[in-house]
Amino acid sequence: MNLDQIRQDIPGLDANVYFNTGGTGPSPAQVKGAIDSAYALMEEQGAEAPPVKQEIAARSEAARESIAALLGAKPDEVALLRSVSEGMNVVALGLDWQAGDEIILTDQEHPTGLLPWFNLRQRVPVELKFVPLTNDADELLERFAAALTPKTKLLSLSHVTAENGLRLPAREIVELAHRHGAQVLFDGAQSVGQFPLDLHEINADYYAMTGHKWLCGGMGVGAFYVREDLIDALAVSWTGSGAVSELDRVSGDLTWQPGARRYEFGNRAWPIYHGLGAAVDYIQTLGTDQIEARAGELADGLKRDLAAIPGVTVISPMDPALSTGIVSFTIDGMTGPEVAAALWERWQIICRAAMQGTATRLSVAFFTNNAELTTARDAVATLAKEAAA
Ligand SMILES: Cc1ncc(COP(=O)(O)O)c(C=O)c1O
Repeated sequence: MNLDQIRQDIPGLDANVYFNTGGTGPSPAQVKGAIDSAYALMEEQGAEAPPVKQEIAARSEAARESIAALLGAKPDEVALLRSVSEGMNVVALGLDWQAGDEIILTDQEHPTGLLPWFNLRQRVPVELKFVPLTNDADELLERFAAALTPKTKLLSLSHVTAENGLRLPAREIVELAHRHGAQVLFDGAQSVGQFPLDLHEINADYYAMTGHKWLCGGMGVGAFYVREDLIDALAVSWTGSGAVSELDRVSGDLTWQPGARRYEFGNRAWPIYHGLGAAVDYIQTLGTDQIEARAGELADGLKRDLAAIPGVTVISPMDPALSTGIVSFTIDGMTGPEVAAALWERWQIICRAAMQGTATRLSVAFFTNNAELTTARDAVATLAKEAAA
């Protein structure tokens, strides 16, 4: 991996010390290039000119193919949506819920992983069960196993948690759930782009992702995976033009678009999906295995450095199998927002508070360099010393 080239490609890295890819990843110039190119084409030749429409559609399909390849999926299993939230809602509104159905969540879900279920529960009396997470792989599986009952219909889980970067053993959880007749929806906000993914191998039922974090692919772009054999059973809840291939305007008889395209509707900002496609291609050129290895090694070093500072406790897992680039920690005597604000004001480190304000989260990415890691470590040491004084 050529770090100098990567850092030249990502213009935003010069302005400050970027440790919040878990919030929004800084994009390589290729992303804006792809978006600009599509808008220029439409502006110069007319968005409705047949060759322009064809070209925009072809680039959008190429983006879908790139995303599918990244996920180990077929293009027909991928809908281009706006966010993780949209994908979660496709499942929350599209399954046939009955009173008493159980949904298993964890105690560390993002609001996006909670709201679709709280909303559903206001309409249908489903039961939500919260499994407390732990940084111990065996114990994790035991807790999920203990929560499953014959009434469990779905597990809705962050593949990687936003709070401390814990990476769930996805394949084992899916296997366990399927044995109990339950399906699994993963919130992939913090996973996609951090390590290689093969959704067919994991055998996930549904997977919702965004482009704006670890793919560094710009805002307002996401995708939703649904396994091929489940598409017809997952009802379309919101719809509009573009979702059908045939429609009888009088009888209402319709044929949905093939595969997961049926969950897309209405006019869409296709150029931003070209930006996402460019981001995926960029990440694939670097290699998700290389990204995982580099960010994993750097994050591991940072965790060890921070853990050695008196008054600092690392709350991210140390087990490499459960780890990602997310490094969360606490400083005795300071809240997460206080630490994040001080890191920004005094060292221009961009990060965020975590664990409901008790901790601070640093996101280590493939583009992070040693100078940034030293700045972060020394800044945390300074704050911890001042807090102890
Ligand atoms: C775990 C997790 N899920 C969901 C989201 C939100 O995703 P979106 O804004 O694409 O719905 C985030 C971050 O914003 C997140 O960290």
